[in-house]
Amino acid sequence: MNIGKIALLVVVVSGLIFSFAFAAGDVAKGKAMFNDPKLGGGTSGKSCNSCHPDGKGLEMAADEKEWITPAGVSKTLEQAVNTCITLALKGKAINPKSPEMANIVAYINSLKGTK
Ligand code: HEC
Repeated sequence: MNIGKIALLVVVVSGLIFSFAFAAGDVAKGKAMFNDPKLGGGTSGKSCNSCHPDGKGLEMAADEKEWITPAGVSKTLEQAVNTCITLALKGKAINPKSPEMANIVAYINSLKGTK
């Protein structure tokens, strides 16, 4: 293998590792956001934890195909999270593809099997 191919391999592999770590989200950060009433610039004084204490009621969310929110059925978990941010926290929806959303989703997914 010549040096060019090795360099290319390094770039591709590190890119894969980075994108995986990025997409996987951070459970601890997600939990902190879940407890933060300022999430999405929320002004209701409530955090996710106010209505879902320690994620109560969200233990099945990781495996669902649709999610029930106070505004009806959501087709993605990210959409359900954003519905609760806008309606319950009175904040602004966050980008579904952002690292912040990945962190919250990682936290919700970590609740699986805790009930
Ligand atoms: C004012 C109370 C309230 C707050 C605050 C709240 N939620 Fe909800 N959430 C609900 C209600 C009510 C539902 C409907 C299903 C139910 O009764 O558990 C729901 C549903 C959901 C669901 C779908 C559950 C499922 O399995 O179908 C998710 C995911 C969710 N909330 C995440 C969040 C997140 C993340 C936050 C913080 C941004 C949050 N919620 C804040 C009341 C709230």
